[in-house]
Amino acid sequence: MPNTNRSTLTQFLIEERRRFPGASGDFNALILDVAIACKAIARAVAFGELGGMMGNHAAEAGGSVNVQGETQKKLDVLSNEVFIRRTEWAGNLAGMASEEMDLPYQIPGQYPRGKYLLVFDPLDGSSNIDVNVSVGSIFSVLRGPDNGADVTEADFLQPGRKQVAAGYALYGPTTMLVLTVGDGVNGFTLDPNLGEFMLTHPKMQIPQDTQEFAINASNSRFWEAPVKRYVDECLAGRTGPRAKDFNMRWIASMVAEAHRILMRGGVFMYPRDTKDASKPGRLRLLYEANPIGLIMEQAGGRASTGEKPMLLVQPTALHQRIGLVFGSKNEVERIERYHLEPAPKESTNPLFGERGLFRD
Ligand code: AHG
Ligand code: MN
Ligand code: MN
Repeated sequence: MPNTNRSTLTQFLIEERRRFPGASGDFNALILDVAIACKAIARAVAFGELGGMMGNHAAEAGGSVNVQGETQKKLDVLSNEVFIRRTEWAGNLAGMASEEMDLPYQIPGQYPRGKYLLVFDPLDGSSNIDVNVSVGSIFSVLRGPDNGADVTEADFLQPGRKQVAAGYALYGPTTMLVLTVGDGVNGFTLDPNLGEFMLTHPKMQIPQDTQEFAINASNSRFWEAPVKRYVDECLAGRTGPRAKDFNMRWIASMVAEAHRILMRGGVFMYPRDTKDASKPGRLRLLYEANPIGLIMEQAGGRASTGEKPMLLVQPTALHQRIGLVFGSKNEVERIERYHLEPAPKESTNPLFGERGLFRD
């Protein structure tokens, strides 16, 4: 029996907008167009091999790489196209930027231009597509120049706290849209019968403490000392300085990890490391770290570079990478503390840990 009391995304946005009598409706129209893009991508993902969309883009020509030097999957390219086509026409956008496009995207001349910038990772976790593991889309809305001019890279280089809205869609066993418009975080589940996102997870809150962490441990030899210390202490479990056992998860779709953490707490780390000096971190500031950062903060969690709040970072480039730590507030604060404190000499020895026998 369907629950007829749930709000649709449209209803939710209209009710939110009533709090701002002067609002033009452009913002709601934009979010609804993004939601349609996400539904279209969800369908493409769901058809899998049947849709002929598995594998690498332009594989017969040797493949294509994006500006990050990463191989593009067919679905990366398609999802990017879907985001553009679903949102460019409506007159709400001044321009766009995406993981899959080297330069900012200019709204074509036949369409009116609006006041918002849309920044997105059209498909996050695309290494998981071919193996049928959850993937998602991440987006961030910023204010743009609003004068009809072409957008420049500089227009997008705004710290994360300036985001007007941020969200992600997760293409898992169910398709969900999780959204913040700066007033908490709300989760919507796609009703496959209606084709509508229904409000199923109002006012999501992240538990402040956790016993679960996520990190790609194959990079451990490249980690900086504070990250090593944190993970070592987790691994030491009940008899270590944390005096409790931890569990570990790594999906390799950051958006899916963010969702798990939003639902049950946890901490995610893709820290800056010494693996490749040209890459200060793996994930990208503008369309991965900032939108997920805003969602975390709006749900009572925290997002950080390891040293300071992510949302305070002044971006310097469209595709800038950064160390990213987010999740349950007390754990993220602890990791920040470890970065600021001088490293303890015997950090892996429980006897010298925080609750150890030899701590002075
Ligand atoms: P994308 O597919 O958009 O390039 O992002 C993948 C990211 C992120 O989702 C995930 O956490 C990380 O890459 C996984 O990296 P490793 O392969 O190093 O684990
Ligand atoms: Mn990504
Ligand atoms: Mn991507």
